[in-house]
Order: sequence, then structure tokens, then C-alpha cells
Amino acid sequence: MTILEFRKVSFSNEGQRILHNISVQMEAGDFISVVGPSGSGKSTFLKLCCHLLSPSDGDILFRGKSVNEYNPTDLRKSIAYCFQTPYLFGSTVRDNINFPFSIRSIKPDQNRINELFSIFQMATGYLEKNVKNLSGGEKQRIALIRSLLFKPELLLLDEITSALDTENTQIVENVIKALNKEGITILWITHNPEQSRKYANKLLTIEAGEIKSLEVLP
Ligand SMILES: Nc1ncnc2c1ncn2[C@@H]1O[C@H](COP(=O)(O)OP(=O)(O)O)[C@@H](O)[C@H]1O
Ligand SMILES: [Mg+2]
Repeated sequence: MTILEFRKVSFSNEGQRILHNISVQMEAGDFISVVGPSGSGKSTFLKLCCHLLSPSDGDILFRGKSVNEYNPTDLRKSIAYCFQTPYLFGSTVRDNINFPFSIRSIKPDQNRINELFSIFQMATGYLEKNVKNLSGGEKQRIALIRSLLFKPELLLLDEITSALDTENTQIVENVIKALNKEGITILWITHNPEQSRKYANKLLTIEAGEIKSLEVLP
């Protein structure tokens, strides 16, 4: 089943053509690595996938229906996006971790929170830390935990391991691989050629705002 489809999508900003005539289908359960040079349009592509940006031309369909037809909050619950530069708000880590519960009007599930902190080998003491005092890698993992408290159908990851050491990169890779095994569709931008082929079943290469290839991996 196709979970997300781009039909002749272009995106321009202030007269600059950033993506041109992108047509691609992503199947439910896919693990797609997205690669390409800096500035080729990868992050823009991911922002279009979750309707953070709207196409200048063409259509994007989630489960066969235009993303325009979804309520933005509902779409955000189905499609989670982890930014290249993690965005944390409020003052403490807990403010961020409680957010996915509050938009669903439910009480924070401390067991689920503890489970995720333990998977990422982070002490729950982090919950009381000020977000200003976290390192880039810590912010990255908190943003990831925030996205995973409720499992999305489609998980978009933008170079999320660039600020992590080898050990934490391995932890994150294992978590993402396990989520994909559970059926969550993954779209992962990575600069690391080895990482791009390790777990993915497809490799999407974007160059100069166009799809150069979509390779099916062995
Ligand atoms: N909001 C924006 N306004 C204008 N130009 C942008 C905007 N976002 C990205 N760009 C430009 O679009 C191109 C693609 O950017 P991006 O999608 O971030 O590429 P990548 O993630 O592959 O490095 C770059 O030339 C960048 O400068
Ligand atoms: Mg980028």
C-alpha cells in the first residue's frame, strides 16, 4: 500500500526553484535513505512530506488523500518529523516531553517516558534540565523521544545522528530499525554512505532539486 505519493511536485521560494518535478511513491513499511549533496533540496523534500511546506505545483497524497484535506494536527500525529537542527521549546525537557500528551488531552504516561529514556540510555533526571544547558546530541535525542512517545505511521529523520558519537549513533540506528520492523515507514536523510545502505530497502538520491535515482537495495 502506498503511504505517501508525490505527483509532479515542484517547490520554489522567492523565485528560486528548490525542487522540480518530483514524482515518487513510498510504500507502507519502506525504509528509505535519502542522500545527495548539501543544498540539493533534501530537507525541503522532508518538509513537504509532512506539509510543513506546501508545493508550488503538483500534489502530495498521504494514504491516497491530498495532504491539504487533512487537519494539520491530525497529520502531525501520523507523520513525525525530526529536524536537522532539533527544536526544543519551553524551559525544561519535561515541557517538551509533556507536549505530545497535552495535544491529545491525556495525562503524561510516565512508564512510556521512562521506557524511552531507558532505550536511549538517558537518565530520567534529564526531565528537569533546562533545554538551554543540553548539548546538540542531547537535544537531538530528546527531540527524537518526543516524536516517539506516540508511534507515528511515517517517521521523517533529517540527519539526526550528525551530533552523536559512535555509541549513541548505534543506539539510535537500532531503535529506528526496530520501529521499522514494527511497521513504521522511515524516511531518513543521512550524509553517511555506510548508514544509508545499512538498514534501508530503498535509496533515494536527490541532486540539484531533482530525483536522480531511486535504487532498490538488496
Ligand atoms: N525557506 C527557504 N527560502 C529560500 N531558500 C531556501 C529555503 N530553504 C532552503 N532554501 C534553499 O533551497 C536549497 C535546498 O535546501 P535544503 O532543502 O536545505 O537542502 P539540503 O537539505 O539538501 O542541504 C538551498 O539552496 C537552500 O539555500
Ligand atoms: Mg538539509
